[in-house]
Amino acid sequence: LPSHYALPSGDKIPAVALGVWQAGKGEVGAALKTALDTGYRHIDGAWIYGNEAEVGEAIKASGVPREELWLTSKLWNTFHAPEDVESALDDTLSKLDTEYLDLYLMHWPIAFKKGTTELDETLTANPYPTWQKLEEMVEKGKVRNIGISNFNIPRVQNLTANALKVQPAVNQVELNFWNPQPELLAWSKAHGLLLEAYSPLGSSKQVKETLDLPVVQTIAKQLGITPAQAIISWHVQRGTIVLPKSVTPSRVQENFHVQALPDDLFEELEKAATSHSPQRVVNPSKNWKLSFDVFDDYP
Ligand code: A2P
Repeated sequence: LPSHYALPSGDKIPAVALGVWQAGKGEVGAALKTALDTGYRHIDGAWIYGNEAEVGEAIKASGVPREELWLTSKLWNTFHAPEDVESALDDTLSKLDTEYLDLYLMHWPIAFKKGTTELDETLTANPYPTWQKLEEMVEKGKVRNIGISNFNIPRVQNLTANALKVQPAVNQVELNFWNPQPELLAWSKAHGLLLEAYSPLGSSKQVKETLDLPVVQTIAKQLGITPAQAIISWHVQRGTIVLPKSVTPSRVQENFHVQALPDDLFEELEKAATSHSPQRVVNPSKNWKLSFDVFDDYP
């Protein structure tokens, strides 16, 4: 399996990252330490996770040189107004105590009006002004790559129909056994857009169900690996980056070890994942009181 993927910039992004969504204050630092000791060099975070300062401290304490690390963060929905993008990024840089990010994503294709959770319809319908500001951040050297997250195909097309100076390097989306998104994956591959799998184990809501699946159990047993390793390996074998989250030291270590599944076992898992009706684990549309589903075709 690939240990890295090449991005349009030429940078190489590690295939397996530690995800830190829902890694609470007081526990994320220890998880980072275990991860860096284990060999992880890719940390997937976001401003809204509220733990960037602790992540930054743990990185400093580890002594791992900055240039060995791949740090991703995400622009929150309240900061899509072009005049707010740079200060939002600066806040993340200062919390992480770093001069630059390796990758900065537009966290959602949804913009809120400043300081609210009310939809900004204009910037949601057209994310290009926000994107242009992100391009400027690349020019300034504050970020090396920029990308998107939670964009469905029409939304990617809506953005890339503009004359972009920098193409999105990745699209980070939910991918797991319950919601494997084969069409999005095939389309993204055909268009040279790398996907990053969040909630790869099904997130805290579905992780047990995922690891208990007979097909997963059988594959793990046959290969002498754990169910989580079988699932994480499947993601990389599908050609995506994978961002498993854990704050449990033994699991952080376990999740780093991926291996190619024999073709027949890979196909068996792929078939099982794609032959039931898809079920999203993560969808904040209702929480945000949107009048549409963020994953439906819009605009
Ligand atoms: P914890 O952080 O308490 O160790 P996802 O990556 O899909 O978002 O899933 C994260 C959830 O899966 C968390 O609840 C995490 O628990 C749990 N988890 C992560 N790795 C493993 C593992 N190897 N075995 C069992 N549960 C795991």
